[in-house]
Amino acid sequence: MADYIFTSQRLGFRNWVSADVPSMTEISANKEVMEFFPYEATPAQTKTFIERMQTMFTENGYCYFAVDRIDTNEFIGFIGLCYQKNNLSFSPYIDIGWRLSPKHWGNGFATEGAKRCLQYAFEKLKLKTILSTAPLANIKSIAVMEKIGMSKKFEFIHPKLLGNKYLENCVCYSVSKKTS
Ligand SMILES: CC(C)(COP(=O)(O)OP(=O)(O)OC[C@H]1O[C@@H](n2cnc3c(N)ncnc32)[C@H](O)[C@@H]1OP(=O)(O)O)[C@@H](O)C(=O)NCCC(=O)NCCS
Repeated sequence: MADYIFTSQRLGFRNWVSADVPSMTEISANKEVMEFFPYEATPAQTKTFIERMQTMFTENGYCYFAVDRIDTNEFIGFIGLCYQKNNLSFSPYIDIGWRLSPKHWGNGFATEGAKRCLQYAFEKLKLKTILSTAPLANIKSIAVMEKIGMSKKFEFIHPKLLGNKYLENCVCYSVSKKTS
């Protein structure tokens, strides 16, 4: 078994390695996966993304983690946390997000993994509030936000998606560490 930062019942969460580049490139170039993004990623963009995640992990102790199924050791995509510096009016904030290979959709992996990441964020990293955003059209992703206990805060027009009628109307969900 790989050297995981943490695990959930069926998933292992780790930092990225260069061997992940081809698999993640395939996922991020898939039209179905990228339905709610303005474009599919090129191999160069995915390599840059992975390097950015490695740096974020070194600096913050979190990133969108590379995720494996523990039963098969298969890499399935990413679930995790990302520091969003300055892309939106409510930045900076820490985002929770996910992108999995369609081969593994519909098994509850995104929900299981995101719940575990929130636990890691609040208990280990001592973070206070996590946000998540998606186009309103991305029903599956919004369902994951609700299933992990996040609450809808507001809708907004994404400045980078302005003019794209399918994607520009977005929603922001939030969850905060429970104080006892
Ligand atoms: C979003 C994504 C991670 C979900 O992965 P997943 O492992 O299949 O998700 P889960 O099985 O944990 O949960 C998906 C939930 O979405 C809901 N859902 C699935 N298909 C749906 C549909 N067509 N309509 C409404 N809800 C749907 C269900 O509530 C389902 O949960 P349940 O059936 O177990 O109650 C995956 O589809 C993905 O990688 N999409 C592309 C990337 C992406 O859009 N990322 C988010 C960017 S904002």
